[in-house]
Amino acid sequence: MKLRPFGKHGFNCSEIGFGAWAIGGAWGAQADADSLAALHRALDLGCNFIDTAAGYGNGRSERLIAQVLRERAAAGQKEKIFVATKTPPTAGVWPPSPYCRADERYPEAYLRENLAERLANLGTERLDLLQLHTWTRSWNRNPTPFKVLRALQREGKIGLIGVSTPEHDQNSVIDLMRGGWVDAVQVIYNMFEQEPAAELLDVARECGVGIIVRVAFDEGSLTGKFNVLTKFAHDDFRASYFAGDRLARTVVRVERIRHDLAGSDFSIALAALKFVLAHPAVSTVIPGIRNIAQAEANCAMSDLPDLPAELLQKFQRHNWRRAFWYAGK
Ligand SMILES: NC(=O)c1ccc[n+]([C@@H]2O[C@H](COP(=O)([O-])OP(=O)(O)OC[C@H]3O[C@@H](n4cnc5c(N)ncnc54)[C@H](OP(=O)(O)O)[C@@H]3O)[C@@H](O)[C@H]2O)c1
Repeated sequence: MKLRPFGKHGFNCSEIGFGAWAIGGAWGAQADADSLAALHRALDLGCNFIDTAAGYGNGRSERLIAQVLRERAAAGQKEKIFVATKTPPTAGVWPPSPYCRADERYPEAYLRENLAERLANLGTERLDLLQLHTWTRSWNRNPTPFKVLRALQREGKIGLIGVSTPEHDQNSVIDLMRGGWVDAVQVIYNMFEQEPAAELLDVARECGVGIIVRVAFDEGSLTGKFNVLTKFAHDDFRASYFAGDRLARTVVRVERIRHDLAGSDFSIALAALKFVLAHPAVSTVIPGIRNIAQAEANCAMSDLPDLPAELLQKFQRHNWRRAFWYAGK
C-alpha cells in the first residue's frame, strides 16, 4: 500500500482508504460480521484511513470502527489509524438552501453536543478529523460553524477540520480553502464527475488541504458490474439513485469506458481508482467496502501500475455531470 501526504498536515495516509457508509446501512442487508471482517482485512493490508459519519446507520458505522480499533489495540497492534467522521446539519432541507442560516443549521450548542456523541461512538477523546457533512455557498462570507470548530480544535477535541462538498455545488468550498477555514475537503471525483479538475483540486494543493475522494466507483457503476437488468434492494439507496432510465444511461457510458480499456490490463474498477489517484492533489480515495473480497481487491490496487498517459487523456471524454442524482428522481 502506497502512502501520500495528507495535505500539509504531517500525516501520511494510505492511497486507498475505507469508505464506511455501506457498513452503517442504506445499502440493503449488511451483516456486522462482514463489516468487522472487512475493516480488519483492509487495516491488515495497510489501509490507515477510514471515513465514516454520524448518519451512517445512526452511529452504527462509527461503533463498528471503534470495536475494530479496540480489538486491534487489545491484540497489541501499534498502528495509527486515522478516522474521519462527519456532523450533519440540524434537521431541514439537504443540502441546505441558499436561505438557510448557518447559525441555525450548525448552531454552536448543537455542534458541541454532536461532537460529544462522535467521541463516544468512536471511543476516543479526540477526533482525527471532523467534517461538516454538507455546506452551502451562501455561508461562505461568514462561516460561523468553522469558527466554532476552530475553537473546539483549540480545546483539543478535534485534530483537523474538514467539509464534505454539497454534490450540486462542489466548488462552493473553494473559498473556504482559500480562507484557511478547512484542513481537508471530501469531494466527488471520478471518471464521470471530473469538474474538480477545473479548479478545486489545484486550489487544495496550493493551500495544503488534504483531499479525500469519495464515490470513485459512482456507487458501483464504475466497477463495470451493473447491466440494464440489475435490481437494487428496496432498502438500498441506489434503487433511487439509479431510478428510471438512469441505470440504462449509466451502463451505456460504462461500456464506452470498457471499450477504451480493451487490450489493456486494466479492469474498469482498477481504472476508476487509478484515474482518481492520477491527480497529485488527491491524498486518499475511499471506495465503499462491505466485505473481505472488496477490502482485498481495493487495497491491492494501490500497488498495481498507474494508468498510462494515453488512457488518462482518453478518459477526459467521459466527463458527465449529474451528481445531484442523490435527491432521487
Ligand atoms: N456526502 C458525503 O459526504 C458522502 C456521500 C457518499 C459517500 N461518502 C463516503 O465515500 C465513501 C465511498 O462512496 P460510496 O461508498 O458511496 O460509493 P463508491 O465507493 O462509489 O461505491 C462503493 C460500492 O461499490 C461496490 N464495490 C466496492 N468495491 C468493489 C469492487 N472491488 N468490485 C466490485 N464492487 C465493489 C460496493 O457495493 P456493492 O457490493 O453493494 O455493489 C460498495 O459499497 C462512502 O463509503 C462514504 O465514506 C460520503
